[in-house]
Amino acid sequence: MYLQRRNRILRQSPAIRSMVAETILTPNDFIVPLFINEGENYKEEISSMPGYYRMSLDNTVKEVKELWSMGLKSVLLFIKCKDELKDNKGTEALNPKGLMQRSIRAIKEACPDMLVMTDIALDPFSSFGHDGIVEGSEIVNDATVEVLAQMSVSHAQAGADFVAPSDMMDGRIAAIREALEENGLHKTGIMSYSAKYASSFYGPFRDALDSAPGFGDKKTYQMDYSNRLEAVKETLMDVEEGADIVMVKPALAYLDIIREVKNAVAVPVSAYNISGEYAMIKAAARMGWIDENKAILETLTAIKRAGADLIATYFAKDAVKLIS
Ligand code: PBG
Repeated sequence: MYLQRRNRILRQSPAIRSMVAETILTPNDFIVPLFINEGENYKEEISSMPGYYRMSLDNTVKEVKELWSMGLKSVLLFIKCKDELKDNKGTEALNPKGLMQRSIRAIKEACPDMLVMTDIALDPFSSFGHDGIVEGSEIVNDATVEVLAQMSVSHAQAGADFVAPSDMMDGRIAAIREALEENGLHKTGIMSYSAKYASSFYGPFRDALDSAPGFGDKKTYQMDYSNRLEAVKETLMDVEEGADIVMVKPALAYLDIIREVKNAVAVPVSAYNISGEYAMIKAAARMGWIDENKAILETLTAIKRAGADLIATYFAKDAVKLIS
């Protein structure tokens, strides 16, 4: 048999395979989400996210130092707000001494070079568990955007390097940029969750922060998973409004969207390998049905191959250990 081309030549040994690998993960690719709770020396496993924890601020600071020593360079902060501080307008989100603001300051003080990104949305602070202000059965847009802009300024003043609006209200990127400019916060970046879908895979995250919507769902603001062009529209608008980095979320069921967005914009694209995606791998591995480490690397490589320049993932530490 004579064959002009034998494609298996480039697959025949680990050395050749690594020489021609098109996608290589590095610690620079990852953003590490962190869940912070009140208290001291506290660390509690999130039941639907085995191996992932809610921590008090002192433990979080230790964790951040460890992450930095491993070569990880950015964290994305979420806080668990006390029930008695929650209200419809997310008032606690603007408290200069709130848990988020204290966390930003403590982390930047302990590890100044670590990039601190903060979630901007009302859900952890909302008595309704929605990302915006509720009137009747509606999540109102413009009044919410005003609060999101103030929240962004508050995080930036506390020292956040990037604010990351995850709420999907219309016009929030422009409003946040304007508010940052007006307050002289010219160095704060915006990582916009620009194509964020209403997804069934956020469940474990909502357990982690006790932030599940009290009524209805998030389909009037988060996107319909049937849509592709809408993701491009949303993302182009966010870039126009001033987003420095855009995001597609979730990642795994949306690899086509990541590629579509990557081809459409000239800013870095991030993807969020979300809680449900983490939980699925953990659960299957626990059952002995898949090899966890291999599944982690395959998943993260696929997200990067799809076009993600950055990946927010609960597997960041595992991945860095596996690739080093
Ligand atoms: C809040 C927010 C959510 C996530 C990140 N920011 C939940 C939601 O929109 O309901 C999900 C992250 C994950 O599932 O890992 N706006």
